[in-house]
Amino acid sequence: MKGKVWTLAQKYEGEPSIRNFKLVEEDIDENLKEGEVICEAVYLSVDPYMRFFANDVGDVVKGEQVAKVVRSKNPDFEVGSLVLGSFGWRSLTKVSDLSIMRPIPNLGGLSPSLAIGALGMPGLTAYFGVLDVLKVKPGQTFVVTAAAGATGSFAGQIAKLKGCKVIGFAGDKEKCDLIKEYGFDYAFNYKEVTLEQALSEAAPEGVDCYFDNVGGEFTNNMLSFMKTKGRIAVCGSMSTYGMDDNQPIGPLPYHTMLKKTLTVQAFLIYHYTAEWPAALNEMVQWVKEGKIKYQETITDGFDNMVDAFIGLFKGTNIGKAVVKC
Ligand SMILES: NC(=O)c1ccc[n+]([C@@H]2O[C@H](COP(=O)([O-])OP(=O)(O)OC[C@H]3O[C@@H](n4cnc5c(N)ncnc54)[C@H](OP(=O)(O)O)[C@@H]3O)[C@@H](O)[C@H]2O)c1
Repeated sequence: MKGKVWTLAQKYEGEPSIRNFKLVEEDIDENLKEGEVICEAVYLSVDPYMRFFANDVGDVVKGEQVAKVVRSKNPDFEVGSLVLGSFGWRSLTKVSDLSIMRPIPNLGGLSPSLAIGALGMPGLTAYFGVLDVLKVKPGQTFVVTAAAGATGSFAGQIAKLKGCKVIGFAGDKEKCDLIKEYGFDYAFNYKEVTLEQALSEAAPEGVDCYFDNVGGEFTNNMLSFMKTKGRIAVCGSMSTYGMDDNQPIGPLPYHTMLKKTLTVQAFLIYHYTAEWPAALNEMVQWVKEGKIKYQETITDGFDNMVDAFIGLFKGTNIGKAVVKC
């Protein structure tokens, strides 16, 4: 059997581009030892974190996928069953180390692609960021950036579900219209409206909770619109991922943080793995009941992985970016 693999051809400098990647063929030995399986990619995830993962040239690009078992010598993983695997950007994977895969969780009959999106890592990031890091309360004013993306769209909807006034910032009109449909109270195109214009209309009282997906100048400016004792969840930093060692190191608005006694907490979803199953059950319920909506931007074909990935940095995706094989 032959599989395809995307490897790193050149270290990243700035935003990722096609030059960074090389598509190569891989021979898969079909002779399986006891316990081994071969899996075929069905849906692959592209996520911003892949940009700053410490890949060496020649490495398979890291990433998760929903895959179908196509050969098996393992009674726990029958041929035809779906798994969630950390196989990287591979079309076909022979798995000997079972710690890199697990059965797909129960998604209540919803699309298995959601296991890498709304009901997977990005959706759960929103869940814990809103409920554990920010600990939102009814009546609070909540701001989220990259608000029509996989994580941001969920963060805003969960905050709304918990009774907040929700304000989203996204990069175009279509995205703003979508999050308004999702129930956001306000949606602003940050490329057209300044923070001051937006928040003087939507939050003259100040902001209690800020779910930060973009970092950089936007977030620095945001601090002066926070209320005293406001809370910031540092989830991501889309605006600075292309900067590598050239990250601006200051001056940072520590004085504003001090004056307003802000709590600024960065968090990583992988610190919450023990709590995932219970959170996932609740999220599945919300989605099935229509309390939370989602969208996917599906790119067809394994050969188009790079286009889908680069799109994250150009803002071409709405909701979760997924590649379908
Ligand atoms: N802490 C964690 O454990 C964790 C886990 C998952 C994700 N994250 C972070 O969450 C954030 C969102 O990730 P996601 O997977 O949900 O991706 P996403 O929001 O679905 O896609 C990325 C979006 O970021 C926006 N963007 C791109 N470049 C930007 C820039 N220079 N300035 C402002 N916005 C920009 C684009 O939307 P617009 O068109 O609106 O600009 C783009 O669609 C990322 O920062 C990611 O690293 C963190």
